[in-house]
Amino acid sequence: MAIGVFDSGVGGLTVHHRLVERFPAADFIYLADQANAPYGGRSGEEIVELTKAGCVRLFAEGCDVVVLACNTAASVALRRLQQTWLPAYRRELGRPVNILGIVVPTIEAATGLPWEHEAQWREEKAEKVDVLGVFATPATARSRVYEIEIDKRRQDVAVFSEPCPELARMIEAGAPREELAAVIDRHVQALKTRIGRHPDRAILGCTHYEIVADLFQAALPAGTPLIRQPEATADALARYLERHPEFRPGERGVRRFLTTGRPGEQNSLVETFWGTPLRFEPA
Ligand code: DGL
Repeated sequence: MAIGVFDSGVGGLTVHHRLVERFPAADFIYLADQANAPYGGRSGEEIVELTKAGCVRLFAEGCDVVVLACNTAASVALRRLQQTWLPAYRRELGRPVNILGIVVPTIEAATGLPWEHEAQWREEKAEKVDVLGVFATPATARSRVYEIEIDKRRQDVAVFSEPCPELARMIEAGAPREELAAVIDRHVQALKTRIGRHPDRAILGCTHYEIVADLFQAALPAGTPLIRQPEATADALARYLERHPEFRPGERGVRRFLTTGRPGEQNSLVETFWGTPLRFEPA
């Protein structure tokens, strides 16, 4: 079997890269739905349908587990697909398959609590509030998933999301770093104005933003901790595979990269964290 990794574009490669480091022998197939990127400005129904099509494609390639390395797909579509589509699809396929997301591991990392934990102490007063900023696509911000799920678990954390409508598209198109830095700075300042101060910690809640994490770090006050989604997702996948021995991640070290968009080499921003250019095959 192989592990599928899905994103609208190149952002999910940040997660994929960490997964490959963590499971070097495993077989990986990455799918970028670049024909339909960016997802962040799309309606919920469109995101559900596109995410489903991506998963179907990866299952057809032999993947048993698909990791949605996309906050927009995970926050808008994952629960819907798991509840309303996957059970019947599994029966149709006749083998166990599953879809995992990126939001649950991020919330576990942000709260320091396992997902199963929900606060029992809602009446207690929090002495100090830790302000957590979330930079995300408009669709992820609209879902309020980080606000809702963190609030269920930690009363002493206040979450403020900043939608960044143009950023994933710019990163996907390989925009120059100075242009990206100016946009990121504007969003960091907008969030600061809304909160009344800078956040204590931040989540880069779109995997594209991880590619320019250093620009966020430079725009935020020095030393602001960033919650790293690639790391959190790799930890969560390791725990998942341990609990589910029926899913074997392969052992040939296969690395395939598929795109619904233009095949060939990806933009040079990808090279900055991957080290070498990546060639994509048509999906
Ligand atoms: N990288 C994705 C995310 O984490 C999607 C960005 C987009 O397509 O708008 O949300």
